[in-house]
Parts: sequence; structure tokens; C-alpha cells
Amino acid sequence: KPRVLSGIQPTSDSFHLGNYLGAIRQWVAMQDSTDAFYFVVDQHAITVDHDPKVLHQRSRVSAAQLLALGVDPERCTLFIQSQVPEHTMLAWILGTETGFGEASRMTQFKDKSAKQERTTVGLFTYPILQAADILLYQTDQVPVGEDQRQHLELTRDLAIRFNTTYGATFTVPDAYIVKETATIKDLAEPEKKMSKSSPSPRGCLYLLDEPNQMRKKIKSAVTDSDAEVRYDPEHKPGVSNLMNIYAALGATTHEKIEAEYAGKGYGDFKGDLAEVVAEYLGPISAKTKEFLADKAELDRILTAGAEKARHVAARTLAKAYKKVGFYPPV
Ligand code: TYM
Repeated sequence: KPRVLSGIQPTSDSFHLGNYLGAIRQWVAMQDSTDAFYFVVDQHAITVDHDPKVLHQRSRVSAAQLLALGVDPERCTLFIQSQVPEHTMLAWILGTETGFGEASRMTQFKDKSAKQERTTVGLFTYPILQAADILLYQTDQVPVGEDQRQHLELTRDLAIRFNTTYGATFTVPDAYIVKETATIKDLAEPEKKMSKSSPSPRGCLYLLDEPNQMRKKIKSAVTDSDAEVRYDPEHKPGVSNLMNIYAALGATTHEKIEAEYAGKGYGDFKGDLAEVVAEYLGPISAKTKEFLADKAELDRILTAGAEKARHVAARTLAKAYKKVGFYPPV
């Protein structure tokens, strides 16, 4: 079975629809056909200002949300990054393989550092830790949204470089990006990607929103003035984004949606989509609470996941240590 791996940051109380459609939905779908590793990247989360208590709790809530969304610890390995120390150990080695200029070209770093009062070296080396995450598990495919493509390219370059210098060590991974949902757009500003830092409170749809709040956000989504439900991402980004969401959650296609709403206005379309979204995501909040309520069981799942992950990670790390001339960890 191919090895699949992906991670998500615990940087807010709830994941959003972009996280789900761009990544988590694929994670869930890939569990049976692959050997999958999914994890909450709390070490990446401290590259921007954070409150320790809040971070700790958000990592739990993140894990519980993944379980509620269908990540199944019987069929994949689910863990929290900080419980597997090999990630930062390999990151150190990969950092010495990364060019300063190469790291400086990462657009996510440029975007994020522009928003921070204080930019840390940790934020700068973030993509190197991500490369370590991926390469430690000899990963074949990484299901992510479009915004991670550049980090995946860096990961591939580092794997190839290391293999060339030291001999075959790492599998060279491929990004797995589903075109239609690669970038879910902000509901209020459909030229931008959906993100928790949306300036508009209605722009970002959180998975733990109340169903009525979800309905309101969909119904107030920015569209355009020509009132035709037609797929045209370039000229009709708002409507096309809603159609992508509808197609994914309502198990339908753009063609069927166009046919169904031909001659009708946006009101009907948005009203129906609001119901699809509320019905699909409404139960996630209660399920997340259930997984959080059984603290011992959640700890058991995460500890078992981290143990399985370490087993794989330690093997790759030992190889890399040997290749560069280190002494093995004792
Ligand atoms: P993060 O936590 O920002 O986002 C998690 C996943 O959600 C995807 N995503 C989106 N997809 C479509 N439309 C959107 N609007 C949207 N917003 C976010 C992201 O592409 C991502 O797949 N650096 C990563 C976390 C990470 C990682 C890894 C991923 C750390 N190590 C190893 C893969 C493998 C990040 O910040 O994702």
C-alpha cells in the first residue's frame, strides 16, 4: 500500500471548510487504500505567537475534530507531532541541506512574516520541519490544498538532494491535490482563499459553527450581479466557489447544478446549499464534543498513534544519522 501522510495546524478552535474540502476529506477517503499517517502539527503552531494553555487544548480539539470528521484510528495512524521527537531531529539535518535563498523564496513565510510584529527564525525554517515530517515516513502521497504546493516542492528537492549526496535514503513524495477543492475561497472575498484570518466574520465557515450560523454565511456569500448559476472561476469566482462546495458536499456535479438552477436566481441556489452544508457539517460539533468528553480514550488513541509513528520515524532517522556521520541516539 502507498504511504500517505498529512498534517494540520491547531491554530484555532475549529477547522474551516477549506481545511475540510482541501485536505481532511481526502485524508478520510484514502484511509483504506493506503497506509496513512495524520497528525496535528503543534510544533509548527508555535512559529507565531501562542498561549501554551490554549495551544494544548486546541491540539486535543483538533484531534477530536479529525475523529469526528471520519479519521479512524483503526484504519490509520493519528498522532500529535510533539510526541514524536524524530521530526525536529531530522529537521536539523535537512536545515543544513537547505539554501538560505531557497528558504527565502517560500511565499507562505513572506505572507505570514508580513503579518507578524516579530518574525522568528522558527517561522523561517517552518517548511524544513514540514519536509522532515514528510520524509521521515517514506511518504508517497501528501493530500493537501494548493497553498502547500510550494512546501511540497521544497520537500521533494531536499529528498532528491540528500539522496544524491548520501545515497538512497528518502522516498520522493508527490503532492495529492484535488483540483476542484484545491483552494476554497473566502465567502466574503472570493478572490482570496478561505482562511481563519479573513477580515470579514462571514468569510470563513468553521466546522464547529452553529448550523444557523453556517446557513447565514452561505446565504450572505458574495456572488456577482448577473444572477446566473454558471461555473466560471475566472469571471464568477463567488458562484463557482459555492458550486465547488455544493458539488463536494452534495455529491453532485457542476453540470447538474447548472441544469437544476437554470432560470432561477441565486436565492434558491444559496438556500439549498445552506441546507446541504448545515446537514453535512451540523453533526460535527456534537461528535467532536463526544470524543473530547472521553479524555482517557482520546489519550489512548493519541499515545498509540504516536508509538506507531515513532516506530516508523525512528527507522528513517537512524538511516539519515548514519549517512551524515552522526552517532546513533542512545
Ligand atoms: P494548515 O493547517 O494551514 O491547513 C491544513 C490543510 O488545509 C488546507 N487548506 C485549504 N485547502 C483548500 N482551500 C483552503 N482555503 C484551504 N486552507 C487550508 C491546507 O492546504 C492543508 O492541507 N504547513 C501545513 C501543515 C503541515 C503539513 C505537514 C501538511 C505541517 N507538516 C506535512 C502536510 C504534510 C499547514 O499549515 O496546513
